[in-house]
Formats: sequence, C-alpha cells, structure tokens
Amino acid sequence: MIVTIANAKGGVAKTTSAMFLAAAYARRFEGSAPVVLDADPQSSASLWRDLAEDAGEPLGFDVSPANLSTLGRLSRVGADSFVAVDAPPQGRLLETAIGVADFVVVPSSDSPLDLQQAWATLEAVPRHRPAALLLVRVEPGTTAYARTLSALGDAATPRFDAVVRKRQDLKRCMGLRPGKLWEYGQVLDELLEVLR
Ligand SMILES: Nc1ncnc2c1ncn2[C@@H]1O[C@H](COP(=O)(O)OP(=O)(O)O)[C@@H](O)[C@H]1O
Ligand SMILES: [Mg+2]
Repeated sequence: MIVTIANAKGGVAKTTSAMFLAAAYARRFEGSAPVVLDADPQSSASLWRDLAEDAGEPLGFDVSPANLSTLGRLSRVGADSFVAVDAPPQGRLLETAIGVADFVVVPSSDSPLDLQQAWATLEAVPRHRPAALLLVRVEPGTTAYARTLSALGDAATPRFDAVVRKRQDLKRCMGLRPGKLWEYGQVLDELLEVLR
C-alpha cells in the first residue's frame, strides 16, 4: 500500500508521521521492508536516515529520495508492502504523490490556522481517493483541542480516531531510530483496517 503524508503547510509532522508509520509497519510485520519515499526538497527524511546511520543505529526501514519520475513510475505496490511518501508542500510533485496514493494522511495540529491548511489540502485530494486528517501535537484537555474536535465534527471531516499527543520525545526523535511508537501504532491499525 502507498500512503502519502501531505499538507500544504510545513512543520505539521509530515516527516515524523512518515517515519513512525514505516517503523510501526516494520515492527508489526517482521521481514517486511517498508520504505519512506522522501519527495520533499527539504529532505528531512533522508537527513534523519543519514544521522541514524552515522550514529550506528540504522532505522530498520529504507528511506529513498523520490522525484516526479520515480513517483510516477511507482508501480502499484502490493497490499503486503508499505510505502510512505513524505510529500512536498506544493506543486506537481505533491499532486503526483497524492495521485499514486492508496490513502492520503493529512497531519494537522489543533491550531485554527493549521486546520484551515489541512482542510485546503484535503479539498485538493481527488474525491475517489481515501484521505483523512490526523491530529498531531495535541494536548487533550485544552480548549483548542475541544474546539478543533467540534469543528471537525461539524464539517464531517474524515479523521483518524487516534490522535498523536504533543510529546518532548517526539520533538527530539529526529535522527534517531523510533523506539516507542506512541499513537502511531494505532494510526497504522486504522490504515490497515481501511486498506486490507
Ligand atoms: N507529537 C509531537 N509532539 C511534539 N513535537 C512534535 C510532534 N510531532 C512532530 N513534532 C516536531 O514538530 C516539528 C515538525 O515536524 P516534522 O515532522 O519535521 O514536520 P514537517 O515534515 O511537516 O515539516 C519537528 O521539530 C518535530 O520534531
Ligand atoms: Mg518534513
């Protein structure tokens, strides 16, 4: 399955989500070879992989750079393999990354500004392609979180039941092999349920 992580806004945990979903898949299915395709010119996923290798802690899954050509030629991967595309914020590469996806994950924080961007991104996803918003960096119990849940409910926005909480450990995980998967294990469960 090809899962594209997309949002027109930067800094909303696209790369973190791509890496943790691949790590969760690798852990769930021993012997599987999940791949993160780094389609973002910022190349954070590739840097993350390089730093982990420098530290002698390989990630346990591949990270490969992707461009218009490689994405366009991505043959339909089987249901028993996993490709997470870390999409760029805009342009043809983003459209292509969405076009090849079996599912589009749109991460967003619970700030109103982020939510607007997430909605805009979801609207840009062709109607027949499954997509859902993933709330990240949230602090349950806050007014912002409650308001966001209610706005998403009012707009009937498809979203993951799992929400990723704001955590110092997730803020500091760049360049490290994901240890604890936090809520990303549940996010993977939900994806598998829809796509299998
Ligand atoms: N759940 C979280 N809690 C706290 N910080 C997070 C969380 N998820 C991501 N971050 C941090 O937010 C920043 C942006 O994440 P990143 O994955 O690089 O976003 P993007 O790829 O969308 O630009 C990074 O500093 C990252 O470590
Ligand atoms: Mg990124």
